[in-house]
Amino acid sequence: MSMEPDWARRPAWLNGEFLDLGQARISPLDRGFLFGDSVYEVIPVHAGRPFRLPQHLQRLSRSLREVRIPEPLGRDAWSAVVQGLVDRAPWSEVSLYLQVTRGVAPRDHAFPDVPPTVFAMAGPLHPPGAEQLARGFSAITLQDIRWRRCDIKTTSLIANVLGRQAARDRGADEALFIRDGYAVEGAATNLFVVHEGVAITPPHGRDLLPGVTRDLVVELLRGAGLACEERPVPQAFLEQADEIWITSSTKDVVPVTRLDGRPVGSGIPGPLWRRVHALFLDWREREAA
Ligand SMILES: Cc1ncc(COP(=O)(O)O)c(C=O)c1O
Repeated sequence: MSMEPDWARRPAWLNGEFLDLGQARISPLDRGFLFGDSVYEVIPVHAGRPFRLPQHLQRLSRSLREVRIPEPLGRDAWSAVVQGLVDRAPWSEVSLYLQVTRGVAPRDHAFPDVPPTVFAMAGPLHPPGAEQLARGFSAITLQDIRWRRCDIKTTSLIANVLGRQAARDRGADEALFIRDGYAVEGAATNLFVVHEGVAITPPHGRDLLPGVTRDLVVELLRGAGLACEERPVPQAFLEQADEIWITSSTKDVVPVTRLDGRPVGSGIPGPLWRRVHALFLDWREREAA
């Protein structure tokens, strides 16, 4: 009987080579490991098509620039890595993960003069099922203890990890972070609140990740002539919301029907969520055509 873990055969790519994930080796002196000195992307793939690949690669470039890690690959080389993983992936829906660390060097906070470590892997994507969507997600609110550059997609995610676990410990699916009295985003999702018929999402800025899914939902709402505003969301709006949605690459757009143990609006997925979810699925179908 093989003792190999079930992920060992997943396709991966490390520093220029495709290999099985179980074969990938990274030094303990890698700064991603020692300092969380690294950035990443997660890209879903539906029907063989990476979701908004240019936007994800653009955000990766921006994250690299902001943390001063040199861009290790050009756009075409990234696209070839992505395509190679998609081609090797046995699943119909795939989640791609890309990570760049500042590289391997004896431990010292200041930058070493070494090449970045570049790693990518593919895994199965498990978007929320129909039953989960019909029930909706539950969320808790939590004070945001993260740093002041949440716009950079860094792997230094301990506050997000603790937030998501606090949600799990209370039987909930997601933690929504509150900073200075405003709701900013979830532990791994962006946030929309429907207040007096208007979908509101916090604006881009240093308090939240500029979500690729969030931006598409804003586009879809506006394209359909539905009211959507990008402005700060006071915590009170969450408590009085008719609807709350969270968005992410792996979850699409999901209704939150319970917040801190109380029903959101009528406690079932709302009419505006049903509309935007349908628009989202239509958009994906058009993209695949
Ligand atoms: C903190 C945070 N906010 C928002 C998102 C959603 O971003 P995207 O839609 O680009 O996946 C993520 C994604 O994982 C995240 O980690």
